[in-house]
Amino acid sequence: MAKKTLTTNQGVPVADNQSSLTAGQRGPVLLEDVHLIEKLAHFDRERIPERVVHAKGAGVHGYFQVYKSMAEYTKAAFLQDVKKKTPVFVRFSTVVGARGSADSARDPRGFAVKFYTDDGNYDLVGNNLPVFFIRDAIKFPDMVHSFKPAPDTNIPTSSSANSRFWDFISLTPESTHMITWLFSDRGTIKSYRKMEGFGVNTYIWVNEKGKGVYVKYHWKPAAGIETIDRHESTRLAGEDPDVATRDLYDWIASGKTVEFELNVQLMEFDDEFRLDFDPLDATKTWPEDTYPLMKVGKMVLDKNPENYFAEVEQAAFCPASVVPGIEPSADKLLQGRLFSYADTQRHRLGPNYLQIPINRPIVPVNNNQRDGFMQSGIGFYGTVNYEPNTLGGGSPQQSGDSTFGGRPIEGAQMRKKIALTNDFQQAGERYRSLSKNDQDHLVDNIVDPLSHAKKEIRKRMVENLTRADAELGKRVAQGLKL
Ligand code: HEM
Repeated sequence: MAKKTLTTNQGVPVADNQSSLTAGQRGPVLLEDVHLIEKLAHFDRERIPERVVHAKGAGVHGYFQVYKSMAEYTKAAFLQDVKKKTPVFVRFSTVVGARGSADSARDPRGFAVKFYTDDGNYDLVGNNLPVFFIRDAIKFPDMVHSFKPAPDTNIPTSSSANSRFWDFISLTPESTHMITWLFSDRGTIKSYRKMEGFGVNTYIWVNEKGKGVYVKYHWKPAAGIETIDRHESTRLAGEDPDVATRDLYDWIASGKTVEFELNVQLMEFDDEFRLDFDPLDATKTWPEDTYPLMKVGKMVLDKNPENYFAEVEQAAFCPASVVPGIEPSADKLLQGRLFSYADTQRHRLGPNYLQIPINRPIVPVNNNQRDGFMQSGIGFYGTVNYEPNTLGGGSPQQSGDSTFGGRPIEGAQMRKKIALTNDFQQAGERYRSLSKNDQDHLVDNIVDPLSHAKKEIRKRMVENLTRADAELGKRVAQGLKL
């Protein structure tokens, strides 16, 4: 391969990259060494803020294809044609650990998919567990603070194993269901290829006639589900902390593909108030016997990123990135997420983060938003940067498509919990649905870290678990010698 000439960022050839420019052989160094100054100054700015959550991740490219048209339920363009392959970029992640933390630690895993559709980008930003700790976004910063390193010591006590985590969790009864997932072996994995994905929140699909239906997303891994126990997780955290990152990269690099099948559960709006739980509550699953999984299509992942920073670190996913045919529901957790992601990305990547190639839609972007840091101005020509206008021939003009799903919204201002909290029922059902071995692991996985928490916190936690299932509470209490 022909060797390229080393250049500065201005494209000027660099004659010597080994020795600074000095006055005499022994120096001092001259300020006019522009190559040295540029090199150091750029290096000094290499780090950007890490994601406030989901800091450690791995990315991969691929495509998505439906098995059959979803036109009956949604007009979303990428869900219509069985021949259409929509390009995707996926980022899998851990949640709590910092950028250099271990892949195998107990944690939910992020499962974020960006579909580059002909109607603009659609992001499905999910996790590998079907429910969440809380149901109102106003609690999210407190929740994350209690999971992250302590503000005084900065000590991340092996992910979740500390009083601060259990203090918050035990005072948040709606988290009990999530605990039965996170502290089962579903919370410890070593391969992103072998886990499920869930949208967790409830969205709305809207068809061409304007009819809406609630939807929950599920990704099923073609390779099946694989978990590890807490001892293997601890061993790997020491011996191979990047195990899941490497597994994904090596698998794709060897020419193999990774497949996930997209399934959805659909629910008519009329069912919203007919159940013994609130279907828009992110701490709940929808029973699959009443709301069966419907197969939608498959995602095939087949190409590694070429530059980790450019593609994976700078990827920006957001639940508010929806396309016509998909809308958010009134789910109070989701509503907060709609604001939070783009907000943090403007801080983390700058106001023009959607012009970065990995985030840029494959369709033209036409609007009058201008300027700001790192503006590349692609497609922004001419004298008209306002609307309405005649000087630009009235262009760009609005599409006029304003079909909404038609979900009813009404009510006076208030700060209220949802009426139907039902915090423990699904947690108990989940425990009772596990095999004996999985129940043993769940108890052991809770007892080990919880034993480090203060006694009053341990007792509060046992009370919540007992309300979910008397046997589960009793076994954890016994393990804690309470
Ligand atoms: C109110 C609740 C939540 C808030 C406020 C919130 C906020 C955030 C923020 C600020 C980020 C960093 C984004 C970035 O820097 O690019 C993030 C990342 C992420 N969140 Fe959430 N989150 C919430 C709940 C959830 C839930 C329920 C899920 C799963 C369904 C989830 C999945 C993810 C994923 C997968 C990422 C990483 C995206 C990536 O790979 O870049 N989050 N979240």
